[in-house]
Amino acid sequence: MSKKILITGATGSVGSLTIQSILAKNADVKLRAYVRNPEKAANLKNLGVELAQGDFENQDALNKAAEGMDAVFSLTLANPKAIEEGKAITLAAKNAGVKHIVRNSAIKAAPDAPTENGKMHYAADEDIKASGLTYTIFRPHFFMQNLLFATQTIKEQGAMYWGMGDGKMGLVDVRDLADSYAEVLVNGGHENKIYTLTGPESIDFYTMAKIISESIGKQVNYVAVTPDQVQESLIAMGAGEFAANLYRQYSIAYAAGWGDFTTNDVETVSGHKSRSFKQFVDEVFAPMLK
Ligand SMILES: NC(=O)c1ccc[n+]([C@@H]2O[C@H](COP(=O)([O-])OP(=O)(O)OC[C@H]3O[C@@H](n4cnc5c(N)ncnc54)[C@H](OP(=O)(O)O)[C@@H]3O)[C@@H](O)[C@H]2O)c1
Repeated sequence: MSKKILITGATGSVGSLTIQSILAKNADVKLRAYVRNPEKAANLKNLGVELAQGDFENQDALNKAAEGMDAVFSLTLANPKAIEEGKAITLAAKNAGVKHIVRNSAIKAAPDAPTENGKMHYAADEDIKASGLTYTIFRPHFFMQNLLFATQTIKEQGAMYWGMGDGKMGLVDVRDLADSYAEVLVNGGHENKIYTLTGPESIDFYTMAKIISESIGKQVNYVAVTPDQVQESLIAMGAGEFAANLYRQYSIAYAAGWGDFTTNDVETVSGHKSRSFKQFVDEVFAPMLK
């Protein structure tokens, strides 16, 4: 019988790549995506994914979407309601008697994490652990795909502006998250484990700029701005107080070396080595910078 999997956050960067990784396995699975805007999910429907409509605030719709599922993938957006949203997904999985919940959390989630996001993810992770559900929690490092935010300034000015100082970090390719999540959702295992997904190397933004420059054959400079400047410019761009403050907090933490580590967890779970930053640039970023 087909394995039935519910994907939340399916129209976002992690969720959509997770669906692609699951489909690439050619396994006997049936996918259902919980989406708030079915129009945005038209491409998922074309891939054969069933759509269930609703917001994370709609517990009834979430419960209904989880009915009959074997596994649930839980992903929420970093926002002030993230704890409640994560809890609502977990409750729906529990109500439906789902066998396994796989959650996208965040790097070093902890009650004393240096960012609100880390504290909130910790609370939602703890709720899963207390639920009695079989879980696998993933705490990914800074996404390489975050660099895509700098596409315009790199194209126009040959520069990217970040507030991470010369802090090194083991940033990770979202494709490696997707492969890890797909493996657990489709084949199970890794029960009641917590993994920290990173790339293979810990590098600073000066090194990233050098790798991008070499890949596209054009000089790209990293301009180190202060965490306060990061926050101010995000607010000026309309990002909102919560997101702007998160980037400020992450900038301070990463500049101080908080993210200077790597793990082998991508390989442990997905079965392949994590992708390097050069691979990400050559395959994903450079084509967008032409
Ligand atoms: N960026 C990083 O470096 C990093 C590192 C570690 C962990 N994380 C964590 O990764 C998560 C973000 O993943 P992502 O990059 O894939 O995010 P994303 O691209 O912004 O996607 C978020 C998804 O959640 C859906 N969503 C948001 N609010 C919803 C609601 N109220 N009801 C129903 N669906 C809702 C969105 O739907 P719509 O398409 O309709 O908006 C979208 O499908 C956050 O929890 C963040 O803390 C990020």
